[in-house]
Formats: sequence, C-alpha cells, structure tokens
Amino acid sequence: MSKDIPQIILATHNTHKAEEIEQILKGQFKVRTMKDMGVTGELEETGSTIEENAEMKAEQLKCKLGDMPVIILSDDTGLFVDALNGAPGVYSARYAGEDVSYEDNNKKLLLELDGVDDRKAEFKTCFCAIFPDGAVTTATGEVKGKIAHENQGDNGFGYDPLFIPEGYEKTYAQMTDEEKNKLSHRKAGLDRMIPILETYLQESRSRS
Ligand code: IMP
Repeated sequence: MSKDIPQIILATHNTHKAEEIEQILKGQFKVRTMKDMGVTGELEETGSTIEENAEMKAEQLKCKLGDMPVIILSDDTGLFVDALNGAPGVYSARYAGEDVSYEDNNKKLLLELDGVDDRKAEFKTCFCAIFPDGAVTTATGEVKGKIAHENQGDNGFGYDPLFIPEGYEKTYAQMTDEEKNKLSHRKAGLDRMIPILETYLQESRSRS
C-alpha cells in the first residue's frame, strides 16, 4: 500500500461498509475496518442522540488505536417517526428490546402505527471524524420519507422494507443496492463529510 494515501479507520467490523465508503471517496483514502487493525470487541453506544453515539464510538476507537496518524471515522443512524415523537430514533437497533431481529423491530413499528394516518418519518446518519491532530468533526445527513403499511421488498436490512423515501413509490427494500446507496441517509451524511476530509487532504499535502 502506498504511504501517500492517508488512512481512514472505520469504527466498524463491517467490511462491506468500508468498501462502499472507500468507493464513494474515489480512492483518495485507504479505508480499513477495526478488524483490519486487529481491534476486537464492540464499541459502546449509550448516548441520547445519534451525534453523541457517533462521537462516542470514534473516541473509543481512538483510545484503542493509540497515537496512530490516521483519521478515525464512525457513523450512527436512527429512524425518526413523526407520529411517535421521533421514536425509535437513537434506539432504532433495539426498538423491540435487546438482541431482537430486524423483523421484531419492523413488527413493533407497524403495531405502533396501526390506524395512524400520519406516516411521515426521517432517516438520519451522523458521521464523526477524529483527525490525527485531535480535531473532531461531525456531519449529519437525512432523508425524509414515510412508513409503509406493510413490509414491501426483500433487499437491504433493518427498516428497509418499511421506509419509502420522499419522491418514490417504493421502499428501500424494493431498490437495488446501487439505487439505494445513491440516495440513502448514509450517502447524505457522507456527502457532508467528504468536503471536510478533502480539506484535510489538501492541507496535509501542502504541509509535506
Ligand atoms: P447503525 O447506527 O448503523 O448501527 O444503525 C442503527 C439501526 O438503524 C440498525 O440496527 C437498523 O435497524 C437501522 N438502520 C440503519 N441503517 C439502515 C438502513 O440503511 N436501512 C434500514 N435500517 C437501517
């Protein structure tokens, strides 16, 4: 690997996520997972907002990696439903309880919205970057949409079979990966983080 390409270490074990982000960043950064760095175990996410969780995960990974001259990047996502006062929100992964399946969470969401006409919802992803000089930056992206009346589609994961993005007549789960990744909340968050990463890249090149 070339020494000239700065490294981003993602606060995840998910190789697929790393590949997707590396691709979006057009090869300007080498993106690696915790597993690639030999970091095991899970990171705590006990904050009361997705921003707090993203920062918490990035800080924990920084502690585990020590003084490596790398950029640490974490993300945290929540589905915020208007009629449920923003639930499941920061608790999206464990809406129906600890260690539940995506199906359990989707069932609970449909039950909570039974008979409710207002189906408006929003997916939000916060990215947090910690740079080698210790600077911390967050960027949040969102996609507005609505919750379907029943599961539709088999692709994706999580709440994909229930979330219909604004301007579409189908759920995320009825889209191909490519289609979803072009318009998703994660893409929206990353789009806001990219200029910050590129500024770092330009500054570090002009220093060397
Ligand atoms: P995380 O912060 O990426 O771990 O996401 C928290 C929870 O939000 C996941 O466990 C999923 O239930 C849900 N989630 C995150 N991203 C998506 C998505 O792209 N589609 C559907 N559900 C998602």
